[in-house]
Amino acid sequence: MSVITTIEDLRVLAKKRVPRMFYDYADSGSWTESTYRANEADFQKIKLRQRVAVNMENRSTATKMVGIDVKMPVAIAPTGLTGMQHADGEILAAKAAERFGIPFTLSTMSICSIEDIAAHTKAPFWFQLYVMRDRDFIERLIDRAKSVNCSALVLTLDLQILGQRHKDLKNGLSAPPKPTLSTMLNLLTKPRWCLGMLGTKRRQFGNIVGHVKGVTDMANLGAWTAQQFDPRLNWGDVEWIKKRWGGKLILKGIQDVEDAKLAADSGADALIVSNHGGRQLDGAESSIRALPEIVEAVGSKIEVHMDGGIRSGQDVLKAWALGARGTYIGRAFLYGLGALGEAGVDKTLEIIHRELDLTMAFCGHTRIATVDKTILLPGTF
Ligand code: GLV
Repeated sequence: MSVITTIEDLRVLAKKRVPRMFYDYADSGSWTESTYRANEADFQKIKLRQRVAVNMENRSTATKMVGIDVKMPVAIAPTGLTGMQHADGEILAAKAAERFGIPFTLSTMSICSIEDIAAHTKAPFWFQLYVMRDRDFIERLIDRAKSVNCSALVLTLDLQILGQRHKDLKNGLSAPPKPTLSTMLNLLTKPRWCLGMLGTKRRQFGNIVGHVKGVTDMANLGAWTAQQFDPRLNWGDVEWIKKRWGGKLILKGIQDVEDAKLAADSGADALIVSNHGGRQLDGAESSIRALPEIVEAVGSKIEVHMDGGIRSGQDVLKAWALGARGTYIGRAFLYGLGALGEAGVDKTLEIIHRELDLTMAFCGHTRIATVDKTILLPGTF
């Protein structure tokens, strides 16, 4: 295997090792995937200003996200079916995040459960909540996250209904995979993945199966989401969830200034500028383009975070310079996980951190706290 030095190297290896259905699930957007592509491409258009002969010794990328110490302004994003990229994926990623010193966010739609993560880590992790029709189940989920001391709740507001992703429909995405001929043939080419899966009992949605009455099989994700997710979700629900939870609350999926104002008024601790990685409304603006206006409108009232398109530490620094006080990596860590398991997530975090640290230095800063818009070339953002 050649030496791995970039997130792209990890992506290429993950594509070889992860069954097509799950690789495609991670690495795709909805409809034409224009927003998915723009998330990454728009970062590239922003140029940096190189500064020289500045003392670059003793650098630090450390800061806080919602008051919590982080070694760099990056958290692991909540991603569905992570335990299908690699056996026990959520546990492995949570351990890597803990070792590195950044938050891990567990998705409602994870394979490993809230209790699994708590049993394998000491650092408090974050929990992402989808609102379903069954409010008793939601209350129990919130209570489960509370009882293992999750230190923030990330409430997703942009997925009451599921965006249409062609690849998932064509691949017949399900967890665990249904043994069709084409799936079996594909699995034959993924011996490491199969071996890992044979060695774990975690192959279903751990937060859900056994916790929602009557749900034993969620094989058809699209149909399950359509049945269970609550299309009526509104700002009134944000209020009751905030009250029930009682801890740090982060609202995910904000793209519009009007919604950002409502988020700021809701009393949440942070919002995430996000288009769900280009997986929901195709045609929406990239997150990095949507960010500055939202920071301008509400940045003094609520902490603004962003996700979407981050594939390097340079992207993290650009987002920070435009006012994001935290970023999230989804695909970047999934590639690491699919490629090399826990060591691959370590690798993702090392790569991103090194790129962030060096770029900050080349731009003339030794502490991330002093970095602002002036590191960006005017006219490119
Ligand atoms: C769910 O979070 C998805 O984007 O598939």
